[in-house]
Amino acid sequence: MKREKIDKIPARLDLIQSSTGLILALFIMGHILFEASILISHEMMYKVTIMFEGYYFFGETYPGIVSFLAAAVFSIFILHAGIAMRKFPASYKQYRTIKDHALSMKHEDSSLWIIQVVTGFVMFFTGSVHLYIMMTQASNIGPYASSSRVVEELMGPLYLVLLVSVVLHAFIGLYRLALKWGFMEGKSTKVSRKRFKYLMKIMIVFYLALGTLSLAKYTYIGLSHDFSDGLRYQSPDIKMETH
Ligand code: HEM
Repeated sequence: MKREKIDKIPARLDLIQSSTGLILALFIMGHILFEASILISHEMMYKVTIMFEGYYFFGETYPGIVSFLAAAVFSIFILHAGIAMRKFPASYKQYRTIKDHALSMKHEDSSLWIIQVVTGFVMFFTGSVHLYIMMTQASNIGPYASSSRVVEELMGPLYLVLLVSVVLHAFIGLYRLALKWGFMEGKSTKVSRKRFKYLMKIMIVFYLALGTLSLAKYTYIGLSHDFSDGLRYQSPDIKMETH
């Protein structure tokens, strides 16, 4: 008897897509929190920056660590996007079918899927620009350097689009992951699905609010600070030789 060989590739691709998505979603949750340190003070954001540059470990700052981290995140980002592309609607006709289905049935999960496709597409461009800059200009991060990038280098509008896209994409993605890998199979799937959806909405509102406030603060510093002395922030406590 001839045995049919099972094609394991689609399942493997699915697993890679889910795991890279989970890593990126956790990364972005941490990213927005760390970056919101600017809401506490200039000094706090500076300390977070030098922490990632290895200061508290080596006693000196190495922005190369941040470049390396950005390159690693960029690689995962590209892998995730590359695999996700096979789920994009292949033609306008396919897209219309899904959209009509979502609208006619008021099927919220299909609408969520459309939001994920659109925000994913937007991030192909906006996310790549940001990650490339972080990779190549890792030594230019800090309360003044970042604010200057937001205002003087006009990154503010791009960040706003990226923020909305990444927050929607990450939390809808986590909700769909939980659905897909069976976290909602408690006593009543309907009830747990509702709870997860509620949690997803709370996280979206929280992260959008926090990200917008941080961006507003960077913009305020960018507009009000006099950059004629350079982009470096001087900490009153930490004297940096190389900076
Ligand atoms: C290791 C990689 C990354 C590093 C080092 C990094 C670092 C930063 C820094 C320092 C800022 C503040 C503004 C600036 O200095 O230009 C910022 C802002 C931002 N980043 Fe990243 N980032 C990374 C990856 C990502 C990824 C993968 C995304 C999403 C796809 C992302 C989304 C954003 C958004 C939306 C903002 C604006 C923040 C806001 O609205 O509050 N970042 N990032």
